[in-house]
Amino acid sequence: MRKAARIAMVLFLGGGLWLAFKPGAVGNPRLSFLPYYVNEFVDHMDFWFNLLAFTALAFTAWLAFGPQHGTFEKAINRALWVLGIITVMNIMVEVVQSSIPGRRVDQADVWAGMLGCVLGIFGGCLVQRMMNRRAQDGPPARVLFVDQTGRLGGAELMLLDIAAARAADSEVVLFQDGEFRTALEERGVKTRVLPLGEEAAVVDKQAGMLHALRAMPALCGLILRLAHAARGFDVVYANTAKALIIGGPAAWLARRALVFHLHDIVSAGHFSAMNRRALIFCSNYFASAVIANSEATQEAFIASGGRAELCSVVPNGFHITDEVPATAETTRVRESFGIPAGAWTVLMAGRLTPWKGQKVLLEALKAVPQAHVVLLGDALFTAEDHAYAAALRAQAAEPSLAGRVHFAGFRTDTRTFFELADVVVHASIHPEPFGRVIVEGMLAGRAVIATKAGGAAEIIDHEQTGLHVAPDDANDLAQALLRLQKDPALALELAQNACRTARATYGLDAVQAKIEAVISKSAFPDIKATPAPAAAAA
Ligand code: UDP
Ligand code: GLC
Repeated sequence: MRKAARIAMVLFLGGGLWLAFKPGAVGNPRLSFLPYYVNEFVDHMDFWFNLLAFTALAFTAWLAFGPQHGTFEKAINRALWVLGIITVMNIMVEVVQSSIPGRRVDQADVWAGMLGCVLGIFGGCLVQRMMNRRAQDGPPARVLFVDQTGRLGGAELMLLDIAAARAADSEVVLFQDGEFRTALEERGVKTRVLPLGEEAAVVDKQAGMLHALRAMPALCGLILRLAHAARGFDVVYANTAKALIIGGPAAWLARRALVFHLHDIVSAGHFSAMNRRALIFCSNYFASAVIANSEATQEAFIASGGRAELCSVVPNGFHITDEVPATAETTRVRESFGIPAGAWTVLMAGRLTPWKGQKVLLEALKAVPQAHVVLLGDALFTAEDHAYAAALRAQAAEPSLAGRVHFAGFRTDTRTFFELADVVVHASIHPEPFGRVIVEGMLAGRAVIATKAGGAAEIIDHEQTGLHVAPDDANDLAQALLRLQKDPALALELAQNACRTARATYGLDAVQAKIEAVISKSAFPDIKATPAPAAAAA
């Protein structure tokens, strides 16, 4: 609307100035081909003609530059500016007119201009208000979520909740089939798979130029198909880096707003240089908003060249519940892994991949007598992850660890695993962008040890709601484990504080509302409030 108003304003201004400076002849009829009494009438109408012209000018100026929402004082302030600037221009025009042959200064024109301005601003306010009302009462934004994987990582679990809460107005496109699609459909979210093709699917976060060039034809095809799909929506919401690189140009082609939910720290530890450049370029050029999952993620994005004004931080949200899995179920699961009754148990939940640091935990375990470790999660994405999982099994078979490390694989009943643990460990050796497992441990009322970097460092308050250890430092981790093993009272106190904090900070509803606000602002940049999506409001 602002753009249209600006164009109309320039046209009015141009037309008005042309008419004002056009030489005329005093005394001559304006419309010489018409009878005298008609010209006399037109002259009498001069005041009204001016009034109308200035009303139109101020009306368009208001829609182009007046505040769309904000305080009453802000509106008055802006109205005085519009009135002032137009009146000064009007007076200057009158003065200049005095030197144009056949034109003369007319005070009535100045008064007509001022009155017209007031009417125009008033009309602009009314129209703006009406449009805001209609948009607020109108349907919520239709969102096409895009994610590259069919597996269930943390970014996908967050998207699962976001999309399920607004299922009636959303659809998800995945570049790969898998349990994520099943989970979305079980929650009532319409989902379609647009496969990426072999060449493009192997381009991972560390890929170089050659891989990317080979993948180009497949990527272009997918961009076109996605652009076609995007036309039925107001916003394209890219949830992963590959989804951004394909979804960005697709949204641009379809002329739709793009929101990018950034779940990764843009750094050399997580991305190749080429992928970092592509991600930043696509964010800066295509996105109207970037949601970072932590301050650390936001900082890395900006430090890599991302536009700061696009970015806002919204942490992951979680269902807060008082339901606890039955003790019998927890005992059954413990027994199924052969964990002796009463054995001090450490849980590490997370996909098996080198940077998550399971290796460091197993190393630390050697110094913690009688403790058992449950590794919940599987190798999800790359061949490197599978090789790492095999190496972990070999490490767990070493004599000092044999029988004390239990591989649970990927499970959906994660809460039971948090319940059976005495302590939860997060051990990422690179800065963790957010770290859902840390919050899940806190919500389950467990003492959490986490590495002090990235989002993990923001979630835990050292010695208050958990313990920090240095990344990739098995000795430091072993010391923290021993401390909690020997001091159950400390573990309990940290756990209770953590649970209270997590419940207050990471509720899904508040997080969903923040995400809705970003979506709404991108979809309807002219309005203030967020129309509640049908499912979320339910
Ligand atoms: N998770 C799961 N089943 C498993 C292991 C992990 O559902 O077997 C979940 C875990 O509860 C958490 C998510 O996977 O919600 C992992 O998210 P996080 O942010 O910790 O790490 P990511 O893998 O996304 O980097
Ligand atoms: C990514 C990050 C993880 C984060 C999750 C959800 O998978 O690696 O740290 O918790 O997204 O935002």
